[in-house]
Amino acid sequence: MKILGIETSCDETAAAVVEDGVKVMSNVIASSVDLHAKTGGVVPEVAAREHIRQITPVVDHALMEAKVSWDDIDAIAVTHAPGLVASLLIGINTAQTLAYIHKKPLIPIHHIAAHIYANFLEREKAPEFPILILTVSGGHNELVLMKGHYQFEVIGETLDDAAGEAFDKVARLLNLGFPGGPVIAKAAEKGNPQAINFPRPMLDKNNRFNFSFSGLKSAVRRETENSQLSTLNSQLISDIAASFQAAVTDVLSDKLINAAEEFDVKEVHLAGGVSANQLLRQKTSEKLGDGIRLVYPKNLIYCTDNAAMVAGAAYFCPQKDGDFRKIEAHSQLPLL
Ligand code: KG4
Ligand code: ZN
Repeated sequence: MKILGIETSCDETAAAVVEDGVKVMSNVIASSVDLHAKTGGVVPEVAAREHIRQITPVVDHALMEAKVSWDDIDAIAVTHAPGLVASLLIGINTAQTLAYIHKKPLIPIHHIAAHIYANFLEREKAPEFPILILTVSGGHNELVLMKGHYQFEVIGETLDDAAGEAFDKVARLLNLGFPGGPVIAKAAEKGNPQAINFPRPMLDKNNRFNFSFSGLKSAVRRETENSQLSTLNSQLISDIAASFQAAVTDVLSDKLINAAEEFDVKEVHLAGGVSANQLLRQKTSEKLGDGIRLVYPKNLIYCTDNAAMVAGAAYFCPQKDGDFRKIEAHSQLPLL
């Protein structure tokens, strides 16, 4: 079964063709990140206008690269929520129109479900449930227990900032650019992760699987203010970046491992933009007990927003055999 996926929830205009949920035949992404780098964050109106410009050529390109025609496509999948509303609408309207013209079923996909299914792309081994997933991106930060395909239970979430958002805000404080994740990781390479002992907010026992990164972000702000940003030299910037990255990855990996042990899972997955972080992968791998498999996206391009994950999720979505027009919240994943 070949599914065309469309993703426009934030600043990436993306389309992809995926066969049977795992085989990526094409994966085209036009990003407007350079436009947002100037403002240090995504400007929704700018992102939506870029989607309008890019969506038709990106879809055409995805079909061309996969060497398929409309006749070969069995269904169209599109991210319906959560995300920037004006951006989502461009993808949804495009998908609805294409589904109508070409008489294809339309499958609405939850953005976090798509990030979760990014880990199934190009995967050779069959998944072993239950799986515990840490979804970490610019907008999301959850611990999701997955007992079977499309059986999601959110067991923890952030009470304020998502980890990716914290990376972005700290990068802005340090004048490192946007998006924050890759630039912080780069600056951290030359820094000492023990230079500053930033807080590791683990929260009380009632919140042991929830996250909170706003206090950590404030601690970085205080550090930059104490040091007078204008006098921050590149070594100090690298030390702050490395110490911040060490604190975030300690919290994420500890909570993930604690929950994995409590729920006795077979696999632990990292998903979403921050899953590209090498230190997070390394720490999780080091702390993982015997018999639990660590999985993260096969390709760095599947960590951040893309449409292959949307088409992949659609293949496993129970709605693909049901009422395609019915949009459901996909068992417990937060909608907004
Ligand atoms: O999944 P994604 O593309 O968009 C959302 O759904 O939000 O994630 C983007 C986020 C950004 O906050 C970015 O700073 C973060 O992922 N990110 C990283 C890395 N690459 C991207 N964070 C840490 N380390 C990275 N290497
Ligand atoms: Zn995302």
